[in-house]
Amino acid sequence: MTQTLTLRRPDDWHLHLRDGAMLQAVLPETTRHFARAIIMPNLVPPVVTSADAAAYRARILAALPPGADFTPLMTLYMTEQTDSADVVAAHASGLIAAVKLYPAGATTNSASGVRDMARVQPVFDAMAEAGVPLCVHGEVTDPDIDIFDREAVFIDRVLDPIRRRTPGLRVVMEHITTADACAYVRESDGTLGATITTHHLMINRNHILVGGIKPHYYCLPVAKRESHRTALVELATSGFPYVFLGTDSAPHTQANKESACGCAGVFSAPVTMACLAQVFDEANALDRLEAFASLNGPTFYRMPPNDATITLERGAPLDIPASLETGEGPVVLFDPGRPVNWHVTKA
Ligand code: DOR
Ligand code: ZN
Repeated sequence: MTQTLTLRRPDDWHLHLRDGAMLQAVLPETTRHFARAIIMPNLVPPVVTSADAAAYRARILAALPPGADFTPLMTLYMTEQTDSADVVAAHASGLIAAVKLYPAGATTNSASGVRDMARVQPVFDAMAEAGVPLCVHGEVTDPDIDIFDREAVFIDRVLDPIRRRTPGLRVVMEHITTADACAYVRESDGTLGATITTHHLMINRNHILVGGIKPHYYCLPVAKRESHRTALVELATSGFPYVFLGTDSAPHTQANKESACGCAGVFSAPVTMACLAQVFDEANALDRLEAFASLNGPTFYRMPPNDATITLERGAPLDIPASLETGEGPVVLFDPGRPVNWHVTKA
């Protein structure tokens, strides 16, 4: 039985760092294990222009813990006013790694997102031409569509039509949660990639709803039934080259989660690598964890993998602290509710 695992240092291809006191508190939880992360732009107000991204990047760099070797990969939040020239120049200069598409109203701070995809078609065209990846929150917002069906419907009604209209556009379908999305990405010709979160590999909707409502398991897209979770585990552990880790670690204060209208988001950054080793171990796929966490993402984003390494060891069950103190109040950590026998021992 493998007891020790050394991997190239992983990257997180979907991360929420927030700003101010929250940024200060959560950033070290990512830099401890990860070399780079795609930084989500859904601040209030959102990061919409290259000037916004440059300023946010400077705030992240100023908040780095001493000695940290970490590169934030910035994104722009697409609106119906997004300027193609600004996007292309920001990507060419290395300031941004991608543009994020939120359908308006799909999730936290998405009100300025896109309502009418036809309005941003010129931006998609410019991005395809310049090789700028598009990160997509893949859920429709139509009130008639059941929340558990919103991802599958998005593929048919929105994502596939965008990809057909925009040959060459490189798209990352983020935080996929369904067997439908797994099947869709398995047909990729290389222009479509997908990220999977740690928590969607470990919980299904029963974990949220059975035996009392568990707000700390609530995120968007919401976890689906068990057959979808097993499809995600099969894909993540398969070695398939266009699927990679995006934690979607999304801190909210305990007060904002434990509320009559609780925020969506799971804070998983501190425990992600240990949890992933557990998942891959249970699937007899420890030898494929490096592809998922450290190799496939850089290949898709056309970046070199990291040279540094991290080491994990199997041992006694991981002791997961209940919460992280932040200047805005405690943030509860993701705890899968079952033993995690892996620990990061060198990073
Ligand atoms: O659960 C989520 N939380 N899903 C998202 O898409 C946004 C995120 C957040 O910003 O809290
Ligand atoms: Zn997210």
